[in-house]
Amino acid sequence: MDIVDPAVSDYLLAHCTPPDALLRELITETARAFPRPAGMQVSHDEGELLTMLTRLVGARRAVELGVFTGYSSICIARGMPADGHLLACDVSEQWTSIARRYWKRAGLEDRIELRLGPALDTLRALPAEPVLDLAFIDADKGNYPLYYSELVSRLRPGGLLILDNVLMGGEVLNPAFSDGDTAAVRRTNEIIVGDDRVESVMLPVRDGVTLVRKR
Ligand SMILES: C[S@@+](CC[C@H](N)C(=O)[O-])C[C@H]1O[C@@H](n2cnc3c(N)ncnc32)[C@H](O)[C@@H]1O
Repeated sequence: MDIVDPAVSDYLLAHCTPPDALLRELITETARAFPRPAGMQVSHDEGELLTMLTRLVGARRAVELGVFTGYSSICIARGMPADGHLLACDVSEQWTSIARRYWKRAGLEDRIELRLGPALDTLRALPAEPVLDLAFIDADKGNYPLYYSELVSRLRPGGLLILDNVLMGGEVLNPAFSDGDTAAVRRTNEIIVGDDRVESVMLPVRDGVTLVRKR
């Protein structure tokens, strides 16, 4: 299912702040090095949305789950002040080696800390205090309910949690799709809408993006 008509998607891409030379190079290098997984990279309009939301929230402390080659982490870190801190979580040394190279070239290496290992272990080892300004979930879909639970409790009041791929190509709407990942994302969507601690809105941006604001 196309969430948005492809012609509209192209129009949206053409009418947001364009990627700079570094992001364009990262898109090209990722596509060349990892042609199939390259589709996991956030699109440029979604990246711009991440930068804008980070700025609007005034985020200084953030967590990202799912780094890949670093596109979304650059977009988040660019929205933070110089003393901001983004904890970027992934399991792949190979993919994140590209990310680290681009963070350095973007002058963001002091702002982004890479934590290699299962994201759930990393989250559970964080202090329980609600000090996070912003979090972005874009890692393995099967763990979305657990990622949501670990992160929402650590968000400060007014903090923002952003989830990617909440529509799963439209599969969450179709009860016939009940594989583990789809069921987990569908369950997360239900948990969020029933969670009194937050207010939320689901946007048809690319594969669906949910914004969750802690009350
Ligand atoms: C969709 S990609 C992230 C794309 C990235 N946000 C970007 O803009 O390029 C998902 C990432 O999650 C990572 N991942 C998968 N399972 C994970 C886990 N259990 N813990 C942490 N990261 C995981 C993968 O290695 C992959 O890099």
